[in-house]
Amino acid sequence: MKTVQFRYGKDNLGYLIHGQEYAMAVDGGAVGEIIHYLRDNSLKLEFVTNTHSHGDHTCGNRELLGITGAEFLDVGTLPELGSIGLEGSEIKVIPTPGHTSDSLCFLFDDVLLSGDTLFMGKVGRCFTGDIHSFYLSIKKILALSDETVVYAGHDYVLEYLKTAKELQPANSFISEYLMEYNPDLVKSTLGAEKKIDPFISFNEPEIIELLISRKLPVDTEFDRFSSIMSLI
Ligand SMILES: [Fe+2]
Repeated sequence: MKTVQFRYGKDNLGYLIHGQEYAMAVDGGAVGEIIHYLRDNSLKLEFVTNTHSHGDHTCGNRELLGITGAEFLDVGTLPELGSIGLEGSEIKVIPTPGHTSDSLCFLFDDVLLSGDTLFMGKVGRCFTGDIHSFYLSIKKILALSDETVVYAGHDYVLEYLKTAKELQPANSFISEYLMEYNPDLVKSTLGAEKKIDPFISFNEPEIIELLISRKLPVDTEFDRFSSIMSLI
């Protein structure tokens, strides 16, 4: 399966996943570019879906469906489905509530579409207020291979790496990471994120020290996650 990224709006990132003949749009807000790509590559859009139901991710659904006649896969129904079959490949649905209650990630080959659950350099905001569910969601992602290629729902790289550097001034990986940043193709690996993202590094000594210096609880792993999340 091939993954193609489409930038739209201020900093949104949407995707087409496709094989030789069939494609699925995820957060397809860049309608014009997606239609062009489908035509240029003789692809049929089979499914339109989303990583969660926020309007900046679902804004292209209606138009894409109208133009292509694709099937709409409502994000609310996907956890029950468990996976989506596209041209003989299986795209797994990983429910990751926290940013919203319907947030999920898509996993196929070595690729994770992480929506607003995991960004480059930070995790998403916990709009549900359910920090424990968010913790379990992040744990599911952290259990994947470090080689997993991560594509997120927004490009906040420069802003979030600035925050990461403020929280971890001694982290030398951050400047290396920024040298690789390409606004035309925003992606990372889980292994790279573990080296620079303080919000998923809650078991690292440098982050634990930081939390202790801020007088935040660190006794359990969940304490550490909710403590680092309080610094967002
Ligand atoms: Fe969102």
